[in-house]
Amino acid sequence: MIRTRRTVQLLAGAAFAVALGAGVGAQRPSPPRQRPVPRGATPATKPAGADTGEATARRLCSLCHPFENIVAIRRTRAQWEATVENMISRGARGTSAEFATVVDYLSAAYALEGSTVRGAAGPDDKPLVDPKASEIAKPLWTSDCQLCHGADARGTDRGPNLVRSALVLGDRYGSTIGPYLRTKHAALPSGKKIELTDTQVLLLAHFLRDRVNDTLRGSPLFKPGDILVGDAKAGAAYFDGEGRCGQCHSPSGDLKGIATRLDPVGMQQRLLFPSNAGARRRTTAAPVVTVTVTRENGETIAGELVHMDDFYVSLRDASGAYRTVRRAPGVRVEKHDPFAAHVDLLSRITDTQIHDLVAYLETLK
Ligand code: HEC
Ligand code: HEC
Ligand code: HEC
Repeated sequence: MIRTRRTVQLLAGAAFAVALGAGVGAQRPSPPRQRPVPRGATPATKPAGADTGEATARRLCSLCHPFENIVAIRRTRAQWEATVENMISRGARGTSAEFATVVDYLSAAYALEGSTVRGAAGPDDKPLVDPKASEIAKPLWTSDCQLCHGADARGTDRGPNLVRSALVLGDRYGSTIGPYLRTKHAALPSGKKIELTDTQVLLLAHFLRDRVNDTLRGSPLFKPGDILVGDAKAGAAYFDGEGRCGQCHSPSGDLKGIATRLDPVGMQQRLLFPSNAGARRRTTAAPVVTVTVTRENGETIAGELVHMDDFYVSLRDASGAYRTVRRAPGVRVEKHDPFAAHVDLLSRITDTQIHDLVAYLETLK
């Protein structure tokens, strides 16, 4: 039971790995965003003046800690905004214009950005990895975690595989592992205590996400030899029955001859993570993920989804213009995902059903 749930979580995480892996070339320029004014900032009394962003950041932010330390980890714009707000609450002083300059500067110079792959299955707001943060975390991992969880986080007989851990796969920059490490995992069987700062938790979050991505990128979910072991008849029954694949596909229509195009590994990959990326010839328009955003005042804008996270949604409208909307409480976002059925499949399909389906699809020559 637990094993099945974890497998499924692993698959859901894999959608992200595939999205990242396939991202080359799909990157788009970031849309312009409105300048944020962190809450709690004192109102501007004078303009930031001729100070460059860097000079302002160094002036405001190196009073209490070395500037180099705070920029060691790249962050998304939303994270820089939150960090600056946190620092204001800890006593950082400046005008709101200065803080806005600092946020602009840090989010440009120390940006954590990923590519958004249009149409890739799975959520497009999964955490991104800062490879440098992951690197910086290594000594900490080696000294505090490796003994039990292994160098690659895939577990030893003293501690579980974290790459398959639902707690790790659901984490966003320390959101779930932070509290876990501070409460349930604070005391190790050896009696040694785990005491981690916010920064260390964030570093470990990058490190673990990096290991998840490595694992999913580097190895097929099943060894190739394991793939063609399914029962094609059972696969056909699942296709027509419980799988409800016939709603969108037909073995004599769009899937005709698919086996001549895809080997078992490729078949499984496309079944689990279909996307419109890839070089195959198409006769139909590529399905894309679209989004409809309704603002507080009732205005709606719609278009192809470019990027979505907890804080912003960006789209390209019919005229080709980029639009970015901040996800304030009154803003409604409706996502129309042609791959939703496949994403949903990840959360209910079993390993056996996958094997059976692949065996069946491989008969469609
Ligand atoms: C008045 C003192 C003070 C000033 C000024 C200050 N900080 Fe901090 N900062 C702190 C303290 C205290 C901590 C440690 C708190 C913690 O780890 O939660 C910290 C920790 C941090 C961290 C590491 C914690 C984390 O969230 O990962 C970052 C990043 C950071 N500060 C960024 C900034 C930036 C950017 C500025 C300039 C806008 C700034 N600080 C200005 C007091 C300050
Ligand atoms: C002495 C061995 C040991 C060390 C050292 C250790 N762990 Fe663990 N860890 C475990 C064991 C055992 C469990 C399983 C606990 C349980 O199931 O209640 C666990 C569970 C976890 C989990 C939750 C997994 C899940 O899915 O429930 C996370 C996350 C984790 N450890 C992270 C870390 C990190 C990060 C470090 C280093 C800072 C670390 N651990 C150090 C033994 C260890
Ligand atoms: C609600 C619609 C929907 C349902 C239900 C659905 N799919 Fe799909 N599927 C899609 C879309 C959209 C694509 C992407 C097609 C494209 O790129 O043109 C796709 C792609 C695929 C591909 C890759 C096709 C190729 O040419 O590379 C396979 C294989 C596949 N689906 C199998 C299945 C199976 C098996 C089921 C049932 C378990 C299923 N699908 C259920 C919508 C659906």
